[in-house]
Amino acid sequence: MSKKIAVLPGDGIGVEIVDQAVKVLECLKKDFGLNVEMEHALVGGSAYDDSGSPLPEATLNLAKEADAVLLGAVGGYKWESLDIAVRPEKGLLGLRSELELFANLRPAILYPQLAHASTLKEEVVSGLDIMIVRELTGGIYFGQPRGIRTLENNEKQGFNTLIYKESEVERIAHVAFETAMKRDKRLCSIDKANVLECTELWREVMIRVAQQYPEVELSHMYVDNAAMQLVRAPKQFDVMVTNNMFGDILSDCAAMLTGSIGMLPSASMDKNQKGMYEPIHGSAPDIAGQDMANPLATILSVAMMLRYSLGAEELAVKIENAVDTVLNQNLRTADIYTEGDVKVGTSAMGDAVVSALKA
Ligand code: IPM
Ligand code: MG
Repeated sequence: MSKKIAVLPGDGIGVEIVDQAVKVLECLKKDFGLNVEMEHALVGGSAYDDSGSPLPEATLNLAKEADAVLLGAVGGYKWESLDIAVRPEKGLLGLRSELELFANLRPAILYPQLAHASTLKEEVVSGLDIMIVRELTGGIYFGQPRGIRTLENNEKQGFNTLIYKESEVERIAHVAFETAMKRDKRLCSIDKANVLECTELWREVMIRVAQQYPEVELSHMYVDNAAMQLVRAPKQFDVMVTNNMFGDILSDCAAMLTGSIGMLPSASMDKNQKGMYEPIHGSAPDIAGQDMANPLATILSVAMMLRYSLGAEELAVKIENAVDTVLNQNLRTADIYTEGDVKVGTSAMGDAVVSALKA
């Protein structure tokens, strides 16, 4: 039976990069026997423009019935002044929470071909291979109460709540330990247990769950130090696990170590291996529609989808090898271009990956 992929391009460069990922999927269907059907829907600002909601019911239903979701990016200048409840970002957050995608896997891998593109010294980043496991449906992003209230003296006060139940920490801990078991068996849990009770509990639960994974070496680090260590000596990390907000910040930081945020895919998983797959970067409205964006993160997100949700490891590897091939051909979009490379646009990069798949 064929599997169903919900394709949600979103806003800005989301549209053009997802087009390239769809080309790759079409090629896998036609030439490699992949049995999937794709159905497109709107999310984010484009959905708001169309229907007044960043996550229309039809989109949510499609995402729910699909076996996997491919997402481009959401947001843009155009929608920045909207009420927070209908901002494009709410479309993304709504999908994460409605689909219970609590486990966000964000690899930061340095392609040797791009070592010189990093802003850090080559010896600091060469060989880098980190996996950040970010809790995605809890913490301060979703905690209640939240809002902006007016005090008696008429001054306004903004507030959010950092909150985690033991069960929420436990389930992300298991994902992180399982991930570490498949890698170098080292897990670093990031918290701020010296100041925040919520993360003190986080640490306690991590230590408890660790007893079920005696082979994994668990360590702990405060988030401020982790940020510093990521730029000082990033290769000390194998798997990092952290809460929603710390993970948001640290994963951008880790992404930049690799030279370009345009290269990194991500997976957001529920407890049944259903997932939403998206590039780590955003909608980049400044370069949208100019055939400039790097589609490789989205194409690599398809590889993660094949591996984790569609049970097609072989095809995942094929995509990863094809990306490796185009990098070896020195093809570069503007974000990873340095002198002497062959500069290509979004669409040409997509075509090159398809050719490499077929070769
Ligand atoms: C991310 C993004 C989102 C987040 C935004 C777009 C809501 O920054 O996926 O990292 O904060 O989680
Ligand atoms: Mg982010």
